[in-house]
Amino acid sequence: RPRVLSGIQPTADSFHLGNYLGAVRNWVAMQETHDTFYCVVDLHAITAGHDPEVLRQRTRVSAAQLLAAGLDPDRCTLFVQSQVPEHSQLAWVLSCITGFGEASRMTQFKDKSAKQGADRSSVGLFTYPILQAADILLYQADAVPVGEDQRQHLELTRDLAHRFNTRFGKAFTVPAPYIVKETAKITDLQDPTAKMSKSASSPAGIIELLDDPARSAKKIRSAVTDTGREIVFDAEHKPGISNLLTIYAALSGRTIDDLVVAYDGKGYGDLKKDLAEVVVEFVRPIQERTRAYLDDPAQLDKMLAIGADKAGAVASVTLRTTYERVGFLAPA
Ligand code: TYM
Repeated sequence: RPRVLSGIQPTADSFHLGNYLGAVRNWVAMQETHDTFYCVVDLHAITAGHDPEVLRQRTRVSAAQLLAAGLDPDRCTLFVQSQVPEHSQLAWVLSCITGFGEASRMTQFKDKSAKQGADRSSVGLFTYPILQAADILLYQADAVPVGEDQRQHLELTRDLAHRFNTRFGKAFTVPAPYIVKETAKITDLQDPTAKMSKSASSPAGIIELLDDPARSAKKIRSAVTDTGREIVFDAEHKPGISNLLTIYAALSGRTIDDLVVAYDGKGYGDLKKDLAEVVVEFVRPIQERTRAYLDDPAQLDKMLAIGADKAGAVASVTLRTTYERVGFLAPA
């Protein structure tokens, strides 16, 4: 089976619909066809300032949500990044073959550091994509299911794998991004030209999986739509209604064409009202299951420890090869 690795940051109280439709939904599906490794990337979550107790809680809530969304510890390896020390160890080696200019061109870093100011941006924020490359390369991943916003980081990962292999001898599989076009960029409900984002969206623009369902329904009903009244899919000229159609299709399993036909002659309000119900029905069971996992944190931690053991067994083999190729003495 081809190998998969992907990760998600525990930087909010809840994942949002963009995370789910752009990434997590595909993680769940790939358990059937791939050898899958999924991690909650807590090392990445300390790059922009955080509170330790909040991080600890969010890490557990993240794992619980992933399980609630359909990850099955018997069919995938689910773990927390900091519990597998090889991630940090490989990141150092990779940072030494990454150009300073090359890292400076990462648009996510440029955006975030421009917002925070250079003096308030950490070096960790700068080297973030290198740690992400380490996450992926340690597992010899063939495919990395992510949303569109991760494409450039994946390109860097591929460059680093190739560079290392050429310079020191083959140690890494060169991974391919796995980006499902239809749902790769879910947009902000209040600003449908921008992506739905934990850090950038206003509360009204983002649907959080763990939010009060009534509030989520209201956000869908007050989503910004476009001028005109026709329900058609046209991401360029009608980004608002197109985003709602994308979400509706993905959550209901109906096709966009099918929805367009079904809403022929009806108004935006009708579609929003129905989609609001679909969203409520979708989040309700996820919330129930998340709560159930969080009711027993000791059991959850145990599950994650088993995941870290399984992940570590793979990661340590890659790290050993890498260290040997670079010229480090074998461990005593
Ligand atoms: P993060 O935590 O920001 O997001 C997790 C996943 O959700 C996707 N995503 C979206 N997809 C569609 N529409 C949206 N509006 C949307 N917003 C977010 C992201 O593309 C991502 O797949 N750097 C990564 C975490 C990471 C990682 C890795 C990913 C660390 N190591 C190794 C893959 C492999 C990040 O910040 O994702």
